[in-house]
Amino acid sequence: MNLKNAVALITGGSSGIGRAIAQAFVTSGSRVAITGRDERRLAETARELGAHPIRANVAVEADVERTYREVLQQFGDLDILVNNAGIGVFKSLVDFDRENFEAVFATNVTGAMLMAREAAKYFVKRQRGNIVNIASTAALRGAPNGTAYYASKFALRGMTECWRAELRKYNIRVFLVNPSEVVTNFYPTAGLPQKENATKLRAEDIAFIVKAMLEMDDRGFTPELSILNASGYVAPAASHVFQAGAGMFPFLKCAGRLEYGFARILMKGWSPASYQYSGGL
Ligand SMILES: NC(=O)c1ccc[n+]([C@@H]2O[C@H](COP(=O)([O-])OP(=O)(O)OC[C@H]3O[C@@H](n4cnc5c(N)ncnc54)[C@H](OP(=O)(O)O)[C@@H]3O)[C@@H](O)[C@H]2O)c1
Repeated sequence: MNLKNAVALITGGSSGIGRAIAQAFVTSGSRVAITGRDERRLAETARELGAHPIRANVAVEADVERTYREVLQQFGDLDILVNNAGIGVFKSLVDFDRENFEAVFATNVTGAMLMAREAAKYFVKRQRGNIVNIASTAALRGAPNGTAYYASKFALRGMTECWRAELRKYNIRVFLVNPSEVVTNFYPTAGLPQKENATKLRAEDIAFIVKAMLEMDDRGFTPELSILNASGYVAPAASHVFQAGAGMFPFLKCAGRLEYGFARILMKGWSPASYQYSGGL
C-alpha cells in the first residue's frame, strides 16, 4: 500500500514504539491519530509530530468507540490500525496478585480486541484495511516472572491468527510484529532496570519494519515478523528463521545490528511460501 494520504490510528502513540511508528507514517505523508491516557504527554507528542491526539484508554469500551468517531470525524476514513498500547507487570507466580494480572490483560488483550473489533467493522464494510498488532518475542516462549505479560502477548498472537483467518476474505491484512527488547519507557514504567547498550533495538527500528510490511504491494503480506537484536540472543521459538535472498526484501538490508527471524510471505489465495534467511545483515 501507499502510505501517502493513508489514515492511520496508533494506540499508545505518545511514547516509544507507537510514537516512532507515528513519526514514520507522518514522514511518509499519512494522516495520523494517536491515543494514550496521559493527556499532557499525548498533546505534546501530537504537536511535535503533526498528529491528531485522542485521549483514550483502550481498556474502556466507551473510549474505544469515541476514538473511532473522532478519527472518522477528523479524517473521514481509516486505512490502518496499529494496536500498540501495552503495559507490563513482572512478578513471580507465587507473588502475582489478581489486580495486576487483570490490568495487564485489560490493556494488552481486551483493549487490543476492542480496538480491532471496531476497526474490523469499518474495514469489512469498505472491503480493505490493515491491522498491525505489536506483540513481543514474549509471545513466542515463556520466561520467569512473565506470567501476565507473556500470557497477554501469547493471547494477542492467538487473536491475530483468528482475525487473519476471519478477515482475509475481506482483503484485510492482519500483521503481528514481535520485537525483542527495545529502549523505551516500557522497562522503567514496569519498574525494570534497563541497561544501555548500543546493540539494543530502538523504537525507530520497529517503525522501519512496520512501515516496510505495510508498504509491500497488497498482493502479498508478511503475517508475522520477529525483530531481534544482533547481540547473539535468539529466542528459541524464533530460531527457525526462514531463508531468503538478502536482495529480496529491502527491509532485510537495514541496520547491521538487526536480525529478522520468522519471516513468512503469504501470497493472495493463501499459498504460503517459506524462505530462510541466513548470513549477516
Ligand atoms: N520496549 C520493549 O522492550 C518492547 C518489546 C516488545 C514489545 N513491546 C510492546 O510494544 C508496545 C509499546 O511499548 P513501548 O516499549 O513503546 O512502551 P512505552 O514507551 O511505555 O509506551 C507505551 C504507550 O502505550 C500507552 N498506553 C499504555 N496503556 C494504555 C491504555 N490502556 N490505553 C491507551 N494507551 C495506553 C502509553 O501512554 P499512557 O501511559 O499515557 O496511556 C504509551 O503511549 C507495547 O505493547 C509493548 O508490550 C515493547
